[in-house]
Parts: sequence; structure tokens; C-alpha cells
Amino acid sequence: MRPVVYVPVAAAGAATLALAAKAARTVRERRYYEKQGVVFSRTYPLIGSETDVSSLINRNKTRDYLYLDRPATDFIGSIRGFDIQLYGVNRKTAEVLVNPAITGKNIDRDTPALYSFGQLSPSAMTFQKITTEHFGDRKRNLGKGFDQERIGGIAAKRSAELCASFGGGAPIDLKRIVGDYTQDVMGEFVWGRDAMRLTVAYKDKAGRVSRVPFMFALNETFTHLRFYSNRFWNRVHFPAATWPVTREARRLQHNIRQLQNHLAEVLRGTPGPGTVWEQVALGNEKLGIATEIIRDDLLTASIAGLDTVQNTILATLWYVLQPDNAKWRQAIAYADDESRRNELVEACVSESLRLSPPGSVINNKVIEDLAMEVEGRKYVLRKGTRVMPNIHAVHAEYGDAFEPERFLPESKGAEPYVMPFGKGRRSCPGRNLGMVMAKTFVGRFLTTHPDAWIANTADRDVHFNNLSQSQLMIVIGGRWERDDTAAGVCPVMPA
Ligand code: HEM
Repeated sequence: MRPVVYVPVAAAGAATLALAAKAARTVRERRYYEKQGVVFSRTYPLIGSETDVSSLINRNKTRDYLYLDRPATDFIGSIRGFDIQLYGVNRKTAEVLVNPAITGKNIDRDTPALYSFGQLSPSAMTFQKITTEHFGDRKRNLGKGFDQERIGGIAAKRSAELCASFGGGAPIDLKRIVGDYTQDVMGEFVWGRDAMRLTVAYKDKAGRVSRVPFMFALNETFTHLRFYSNRFWNRVHFPAATWPVTREARRLQHNIRQLQNHLAEVLRGTPGPGTVWEQVALGNEKLGIATEIIRDDLLTASIAGLDTVQNTILATLWYVLQPDNAKWRQAIAYADDESRRNELVEACVSESLRLSPPGSVINNKVIEDLAMEVEGRKYVLRKGTRVMPNIHAVHAEYGDAFEPERFLPESKGAEPYVMPFGKGRRSCPGRNLGMVMAKTFVGRFLTTHPDAWIANTADRDVHFNNLSQSQLMIVIGGRWERDDTAAGVCPVMPA
């Protein structure tokens, strides 16, 4: 053989050996956890659990739905890439995982999302470990910019404009309208009106480049990155989502570069007063934090409230507008006191977040071997194992009926243990903002259009979450009538 032939043959041999070693390690790890009582979901060599995940995604569900039906265990295991991933599927296990005081050890960030929307802002706190320099300061500085009153004002104005922009007649695509709402509110909140209106070069799916508003390009790129990383092989081997081997990957990378260059330029300017940009730049510059990190934390703040809030709103309206839930629509639309209306809307949003949390907790890894106990059952988790609570399974303990009364202040029972925003040090710093945005739109929509009804109830597999393609088509002006005599009347739908 000539030397030119040796090199590729040797490289292929080394790759095969590395693959075999990884596969053998995964098999050993799986046995190790099975001996401790961990139940594994269905897996196949090389592709792990992804076949079943694909069928869920095709039905507008996320991977988390794989873990709902095994309540008699603390952990369910699966194989992602070549890693074992354990999901804590009940409250007690979740509590141990989110509270390092119980085990004395941190379980810390290591997430495949880095290869997805993480390409936009790899240095953002979302993808960093707690031990990263200035992590706590960065999270605090972001929090300082999260002024609830300010976002409430922006959200009230934009939801009023949008809800007044449509009326009776043809079906309306509410997903698109709510998408515009979250995009505009987050853009103005983080960057201010002037910076948000600047344009950036954007390549669309057909390959045409045009200048579009910054937040539009960001929202589209963020959404397409998430969907691209969820293609089958990109789920089997996460880094494949970053390889410029497809037209879509190259287009996304082009748009990422445009957005990052645009922001490098914007950040040389002066932040608008009261913006998140102002607070984060002020706090982080004092600590000597690099501009690239400031850019990435602001990018994360700009995108974290897009799909999450959009799906929270759509899920809530989907539940509230069902004829069986007419009493909630009626109570909200005709509440004679604003603070009562707010309580009712909040209860409906919270119950929707319980039944249809838009996303998962972000994945974490065991940093050093960790011994833990759940009601006397002992586990030793090994360094390098991915592990996270499964929000869906924890929430499913309370059943699948839409019962917002559990979240009303007058409710007698204890509130359910829910974690749509995660819990502990890695939990969502934007939860109050997200709630304000969602409640504002839902309240405004129901009071402006108490006679709305859903036109696509016959669609199959309607679920709202960050990976779903479900639509919410609305028609305004059925023959819905206010009924003060009955609590649970159904609206009369047009024939
Ligand atoms: C209804 C809306 C929202 C939901 C359901 C939601 C949910 C979540 C969840 C589940 C996590 C992961 C928590 C964990 O891993 O333990 C998270 C993290 C995060 N969220 Fe939210 N979120 C929402 C809105 C927002 C908004 C509006 C912002 C900011 C403007 C935001 C900023 C963040 C950030 C920066 C993180 C990363 C925190 C860290 O890594 O320590 N979120 N969110």
C-alpha cells in the first residue's frame, strides 16, 4: 500500500475503535444503573432512544413525554448520543436533583442545546457551569434589568394593538400573531425601540438575502436552529448540527454571523435608558467582563422569552376556549374587578404550564460521583452521567384534567409541586417576566374577544410546546353569549 492510502485507512480504523470503545462504555454504564433499579426506555445500538423520540416529535410532543407512564420508579434512563441520560420522574427525586444542599454536590450544566440555539450565543450563562467566573454576578445583573413594571407596560400596549387588529370573519392564525407579540415585546424590553428597529442582512430558506428587522432575523434563526438540531441524526450525534454539510446548516451559520456582527456594532453605541442592555452592560463592564459575553447574555435574554411565552399563551387559550372550560372564559371576560381577573388568568396560565410545559429543564451532568437517596432507595450517580428532573412526569402526578382552581388563592389544598421554570440555582431568572407577558396577552385577548372560538379543534395531535408545529386557528364572533346564571355553560358554536 502507498502512504497516501495508509493515512485514511488508519484514520478510519482509529475512528471505528473510538466508536466501539464508546459503545462498550455506554453498555457498561447502563448495566451499572440497571443494577441500582433504574428502568431504561427502549434503546437501539448507536441511535439510542431517538426512534421513539421521532414518533413523539411527529405528534407535536417533546421527548419528555417518553417518561410519563412509569410512575413506580425514581429514575428512567435513556441513551442520548453515547451518553446515559437519567430522568428523575417524581417529586422526591426532583427535589434531590435541584437542591445541592441535600447531597453536598452540584449537578451542573452540560447541554446539547449548545449545538442548537447555543451556536448563537455560546458564552451565554445558559450554557455555562455555575463555577464559571462571575456566573452569579452575571445572573444578578440580568435580573437587575428585568423590571416587571416596564415589561408590563410594553406588553399591555402591544397586546392591545394586536388584539384590536383582527375581528370577525375568516379564521385567524393566532400562532403568528402571538409570535409577533413575543418578538416585539422582548425586542423593545431588552434593546429599546431604536435598537430593535435596526435592520440586519438575513438569508431566507430560498437563499435570498434581504435586510429585515433585527428581532425578526433573531427569532427566525433561533426557531430554525432548534428545529434543525432536532432532525434525527443531529439528535443522535449533537455536534452534527453544527457541521456545514447541508444547505440549511450553512444558511443558519450565515445568519448567526450576521446577527453577531450586527450586535458587536450595536454594543459600541449607548444603551437606551431602562433597557436590559443598559443594566447588563453597566454591571458587567464594572467587573471587566468581555463584550462578547455581554453580547451573549443579552442574546439569551432576547430569545428566552420568545417560544416559551408564545407556547404558554397558545396552550392557555387552547384550554380556556374549549367548550368544556367555558366557565373560565366567562369568569375572565366578565370579571368586574381587575385584580380578580388577574387571579383567574394567572390560575389558567399556571395550570396550562402544569399540563403543557413549553420546554424541559436544561440538561445537566454529574460533576463528581454523587450518592443520593430517595425515600430509602439508594443511588450512586457517576461523574459524566447526564441527569435532570423530568418536568412532564412530575406534573403528571396531578392528572390530565384542566383544573385552574388549584392555583386560585382561595383553593383549600396545597398547590401542586410544579417546575415549569426549573428550580434552584439554575432556574429561570425570567419567570416573572414570562408570567406577566403571558397573562397580559391572555387577559387582553379574552376581554376583547369573549366570543372567539377555535376553528381547528378537529386537527390531530394538537399540543403546544417548543417543538410543536400545531396551529391555533381562531374565529371571532360565534354565537357565544354571556350567561350569568350558570357557572359552566358552553358557548354555542356556529354550525
Ligand atoms: C413562560 C415563559 C418561560 C418558561 C416556561 C421558561 C422556562 C425555563 C426553564 C425550564 C429553564 C431551565 C431551568 C433549569 O435548567 O433548571 C429556563 C432557563 C432560563 N430562562 Fe426561562 N422560561 C420562560 C421565560 C423566560 C424569559 C422571559 C426570560 C428572560 C427574558 C428567560 C430567561 C432564562 C435564562 C437566562 C435561563 C438560563 C438560566 C441558567 O442557565 O441559570 N426565561 N427557563
